[in-house]
Amino acid sequence: MKALVYHGPGQKTWEEKPKPQLLEPTDAIVRVHKTTICGTDLHILKGDVPTVTPGRTLGHEGIGIVDEVGSAVANFRPGDKALISCITSCGRCAPCKEGMYSHCINGGWILGNQIDGTQAEYVRIPYADTSLYHLPKGVGEDALVMLSDILPTGYECGVLKAQIQPGDTVAVVGSGPVGLAALITAQFYAPGQLIVLDVDDKRLEFARKFGATHTVNSGDGETAVAKVMELTEGAGVDAAIEAVGIPATFELCQSIIAPGGTIAVLGVHGSSVPLHLERLWAFNIAITTRLVDTVTTPLLLKTVVSGRLKPEELITHRFRLNDILQAYDTFANAGREGALKVLMTHEAAG
Ligand SMILES: NC(=O)c1ccc[n+]([C@@H]2O[C@H](COP(=O)([O-])OP(=O)(O)OC[C@H]3O[C@@H](n4cnc5c(N)ncnc54)[C@H](O)[C@@H]3O)[C@@H](O)[C@H]2O)c1
Ligand SMILES: [Zn+2]
Ligand SMILES: [Zn+2]
Repeated sequence: MKALVYHGPGQKTWEEKPKPQLLEPTDAIVRVHKTTICGTDLHILKGDVPTVTPGRTLGHEGIGIVDEVGSAVANFRPGDKALISCITSCGRCAPCKEGMYSHCINGGWILGNQIDGTQAEYVRIPYADTSLYHLPKGVGEDALVMLSDILPTGYECGVLKAQIQPGDTVAVVGSGPVGLAALITAQFYAPGQLIVLDVDDKRLEFARKFGATHTVNSGDGETAVAKVMELTEGAGVDAAIEAVGIPATFELCQSIIAPGGTIAVLGVHGSSVPLHLERLWAFNIAITTRLVDTVTTPLLLKTVVSGRLKPEELITHRFRLNDILQAYDTFANAGREGALKVLMTHEAAG
C-alpha cells in the first residue's frame, strides 16, 4: 500500500509500505477513505516532535471502512464506516477512566507519532472499540473528518480550558484550522468580543467569516498588542487562546491577558518560552496546557448532526490521496494558497 512517510526534519515521501496487520485482539485495520493534514504534521516536519522517528507514517485524522477486526473487538465489524480519533484510548486505565484519554497509559496520541498513522491506504487502530466512532447517518463524511482532531482540540484545549463565559472578551491567536475550531466552538458560550490574530490576512478573512468580531494582523507584535488593548479599552482579554505554537505567540498572549484571565495554550511548542512573572505574578491569571482528549467527540458529533456546526466549511482544498504531496505543499503555504483544511480522498475506498 501507499503511505506518507517521515524521513527526518524536512523530509517526507509517498512510498510503498507493507499493509498493516492486526497485532493485538483489540486492534482493527481500517481502510482509509478520507484523511487530512494537521498543523502538528508541519511541526513534526520542522523537527519539533522528537517522538516521531524516521520511517513513521504520518497522520492522525480521518474516516474509513473497517477492513479487519481482532477477536476482542465487539463494537465494529468489517464494512462498518468509522471516524478515527486522533487519540487512542484503552478505556480501562486510570487516566482513561478520568476522561484523560490523551494520557492513556496504553495509548494517547500515538497515531502518526509513535505508531503509523492515517496518511496511508490502511491504518492499524489499537483499542478499536474505544478509539473509533460509528459515523452518524445523514451527515456529510467530509464534515466528520474535522472531528478526528481539530474541533475537539479547539473546544477542549481552548474553550473549555479557558472557561469562556457569556460576555467574555476572547482572543484567539492563530487563525489556522485549530484556532478557527476554537473560534467556532467559543460561540456556544456567547462571548462578547472574539478577536482573532494572525500574520496572514487571508486567514483573518476566514476568521471574520467564522464569527470573529475583530481581526488583528500580528505581524508586528507591539502594534498588535496596542490594537487589542484599544479594542478592550485598556483591559486586555479574559481568555487568550494560543493556537500557533511558537514563542512569539505565547509572548503575545502574556501581553494581552487581563487580570483574572486565562491563557489556554493549544499550540504544539518545540522550544522553551519566556514567562513574564516579573509582570504577571500579581495578575491572578491561569495558564493551561492540554493535549486533546477527544472526550467531547460525542457531544460535537451531536452538534454536527443537528446542523448547529458545519465543520465542512473549514475545508478549502480537495485532493486525491495519491496527490498528498501536493496537498502538503498547499497546506504548508496556506497564505499563498488561501488554504485551511486540505482533504484527501481515496476514491477506491469509498
Ligand atoms: N494541543 C493539542 O492537542 C493540539 C492538537 C492539534 C493541533 N495542535 C496545534 O495547534 C496549532 C495550530 O494547528 P493548525 O492546524 O491550525 O496549524 P496551522 O499551521 O494551519 O495554523 C497556524 C496559524 O498560525 C499563524 N501564525 C504563525 N505565526 C504567527 C504569529 N506570529 N502570530 C499569529 N499567528 C501566527 C499562521 O499564519 C497560521 O494561520 C499547532 O501548533 C498544532 O500543532 C495542538
Ligand atoms: Zn492534529
Ligand atoms: Zn487507557
